[in-house]
Amino acid sequence: ETNILTDTFNRKHTYLRLSLTEKCNLRCTYCMPEHGVPLTPKSNIMTADELFKIASIFVKHGVSKIRLTGGEPLVRKDFSEILERLSTLNTKLSITTNAVLVDRFIADFKRFGLYDINVSLDSLDADKFTFITRRNQFKAAYNNIILLLEQGFNVKMNVVLIKGFNDDEIIDFIQFTKHLPISIRFIEFMPFDGNNWNKEKLVTQAEILEQTHSHFGAEALISLPNEVNFTSRNYQIKGFKGTFGIISSVSNPFCDSCNRIRLTANGNIKNCLFSNQETNLLAAYRHGENIEPLISNLINKKHAVRAGMTDFETLNKPENHTNNRSMITIGG
Ligand code: GTP
Ligand code: 5AD
Ligand code: SF4
Repeated sequence: ETNILTDTFNRKHTYLRLSLTEKCNLRCTYCMPEHGVPLTPKSNIMTADELFKIASIFVKHGVSKIRLTGGEPLVRKDFSEILERLSTLNTKLSITTNAVLVDRFIADFKRFGLYDINVSLDSLDADKFTFITRRNQFKAAYNNIILLLEQGFNVKMNVVLIKGFNDDEIIDFIQFTKHLPISIRFIEFMPFDGNNWNKEKLVTQAEILEQTHSHFGAEALISLPNEVNFTSRNYQIKGFKGTFGIISSVSNPFCDSCNRIRLTANGNIKNCLFSNQETNLLAAYRHGENIEPLISNLINKKHAVRAGMTDFETLNKPENHTNNRSMITIGG
């Protein structure tokens, strides 16, 4: 039997990124335009029951990990109910959150077995955090990240690097891993609709490694083995408790081992982060249609690398940024 989640490059899609909402309590400049994005009417957003039923179909076909994303997943009023229902599926659960509301959900995370928590924090400086997120929530986010570590969660912290804004904090972020069992991931700024990306704002993997070498010395930098289906290439400074990694989607993509499929809050599957090819599963599901052929059709159209933007020059073209969604409605 052929698996409906295997693409033409024999990549097996066992990891579903499930966006719960298009809304967010922050307004990060790299994620959405200043005045937000047009929101899908609530009637066309998946309900908790639809999320569960559609996710079940993916699990039936081999999905073994679901990551909850957004927008900000914790702003969903029925988040606890969604988590409870998904916890009955035979799949690993994880979440990516800005951490602002995390303290309210610690008990639910534990009760329903959600221990892998990725958080976003782009600056260790409160004023810079406010500038990038357009909201004054540094303390809440920071304290909640410490809380998660104290409570024994497996925490990865995402830092989107922007040239001239926070590339002077790379070493401070790595120092943060000295005594804390956290994994910091520096992320190359990626182009999406409305985020004013240009290549001058990019801080590349090579530049990050160069700064790290010159500060800590080559002999202190341990290169860790790649995880299966990795996004980040990981390192550790000798003697440090935590680790750090680099997600180089722009300068050095890692699509060969891609195992990810995305479902947006309005029920579209998306076969690549950079692809605007989508299929609305929710409408079909509501009509009582079998959605399995829709899923396999879209997976079969997946390109080898970044929705066909194999080289940097193609990715660099402005017209290729605006034909995709804004990140806030993809979920990363
Ligand atoms: P885990 O490996 O499950 O810990 O997740 P992750 O690090 O991939 O997910 P997270 O939500 O923390 O996202 C971190 C960064 O990786 C974000 O900038 C995402 O947009 C990016 N990312 C996640 N999945 C993919 C992918 O399939 N392709 C690319 N190019 N980037 C991705
Ligand atoms: N480029 C790179 N990473 C991004 N994220 C959001 N927008 C971008 C972008 N334009 C990251 C956030 C969050 C993760 C889900 O995606 O930092 O941690
Ligand atoms: Fe997969 Fe697309 Fe990300 Fe490449 S860019 S790893 S193909 S989702």
